[in-house]
Amino acid sequence: MLCVLLCFLLLFGVLPPLNIQTTSASESLTPIELLGKNLFFDTNLSTPSGVSCSTCHSPETGFTGPNSDINAHGAVYEGAIDTRFTARAPPSAAYAGESPVLYFNETKSQWIGGMLFDGRATGWTLGDPLAEQAQGPFLNPLEQNIPSKEGVVFKVILSNYANLFEEVWGKGSLNNVDEAYDKIAKSIAAYERSSEVNPYTSKYDAYLVEKTQLTQEEAQGLKLFQGKGLCASCHPSEQTPLGELPVFTDYTYWNLGIPKNPENPFYNMSSEYNPDGANFTDLGLGSFLKNASYPPAKYEPALGTFKVPTLRNVDLKPTSEFVKSYGHNGYFKSLEEIVHFYNTRDVGIWPEPEASVNLDLMNMGNLGLTLSEETAIVAFLKILSDGYTDGSSEFEVQVVIVGSLIVVMACFVVFAVFRKNKIYQKNKGAN
Ligand code: HEC
Ligand code: HEC
Repeated sequence: MLCVLLCFLLLFGVLPPLNIQTTSASESLTPIELLGKNLFFDTNLSTPSGVSCSTCHSPETGFTGPNSDINAHGAVYEGAIDTRFTARAPPSAAYAGESPVLYFNETKSQWIGGMLFDGRATGWTLGDPLAEQAQGPFLNPLEQNIPSKEGVVFKVILSNYANLFEEVWGKGSLNNVDEAYDKIAKSIAAYERSSEVNPYTSKYDAYLVEKTQLTQEEAQGLKLFQGKGLCASCHPSEQTPLGELPVFTDYTYWNLGIPKNPENPFYNMSSEYNPDGANFTDLGLGSFLKNASYPPAKYEPALGTFKVPTLRNVDLKPTSEFVKSYGHNGYFKSLEEIVHFYNTRDVGIWPEPEASVNLDLMNMGNLGLTLSEETAIVAFLKILSDGYTDGSSEFEVQVVIVGSLIVVMACFVVFAVFRKNKIYQKNKGAN
């Protein structure tokens, strides 16, 4: 009996730890990350309530816009007030945390880092562009529309995670509004940097650590991405010398010449938010630098340029029919389209660029890719989605189950033989 018990203990002792590894990473969030997660998904943090960060950055689309119909058309999202839209489409809020504080690299003669398409969440005040970015949406009348920092902190005081806030930041940490507002932002940034938001579990990651192989087409796509397609010159795709996995952006700024998205509802917004009306032209980083009082020599070369976004989860979506949009104004509706644009901007038939200043003529426009080469690049982009399993972990669990069953059966056999032997001995004794 003891032996059978032992076998059962073994069976159920080995399985649970294996199961834990396969459950959601949420359980492994640190207290500050968990606090950030609460803030990120709290739809009370808007005026009127109903809009959270996740309204525009949802996990099932790789922390970008979760509405297929919107993505298929205007591509920009409404904030807490109906009819008030942001001017740009939401980029991924994941894999963004490594962007350095915005600076001008003299050797490259280029701006690098910061957060948002135009770098205006620079990181110059908090030393962290990601945390600084998180302070914007709550107070932005086009987004969460809370009138003041006090208003945001007050809503956090009333929330069901106010205790967690004090656990993380100390008793009384919600008393000083300015300090509490910084801590709210830092907590959100901690969540955005967590392994739940940045799991690095794509097929490409498995390939980089030699856990899986690529199909022929994916391998060809990777080769083109790094070679003839020139993609990796702005979207680096290799592990760093320290072994860090790539996030597919070097945080530089470029004007690719993406056309205007005529369906963008921002064109019809009131002059209070869009003084240029239908003539609105998004000038990206240059416009921010100009508003920040940089001299023309500094802002002019940056007019029309946008930060290189991550390509992780660029194809992640809830169903295959779901439409995602690409580019700062969501002009492109599929990966096929945007790759075709890189290939043929200068030789194909495309509408004129939204801004024609500082157009990048070096890295794109006439790549000479064949249609099947374009398709291969798309196949490669599709293996950058998190959540890849090749079935090997399920295989491991099966091995453990079968192994345990064999052990249990062996125990039964040993036990039966032992018992038979005992009866035999007993009978012998009786004789
Ligand atoms: C109404 C939609 C909306 C809401 C709500 C919203 N965002 Fe965004 N988010 C956007 C848009 C649009 C951009 C790009 C804006 C730009 O470049 O000017 C963006 C950009 C970002 C970026 C920059 C990514 C990068 O690589 O540069 C991060 C990070 C981010 N949002 C996080 C958040 C957080 C955190 C919240 C909640 C506090 C939030 N967002 C709320 C629409 C939204
Ligand atoms: C010169 C730098 C550069 C090169 C080369 C480049 N990209 Fe980009 N990529 C960017 C920038 C900048 C953006 C954002 C532009 C914008 O929104 O105006 C972008 C956006 C994208 C997006 C949209 C991502 C999103 O979430 O909206 C995809 C997909 C993409 N690039 C794939 C590629 C592929 C594939 C190649 C090679 C064929 C490539 N890129 C080459 C700089 C570059």
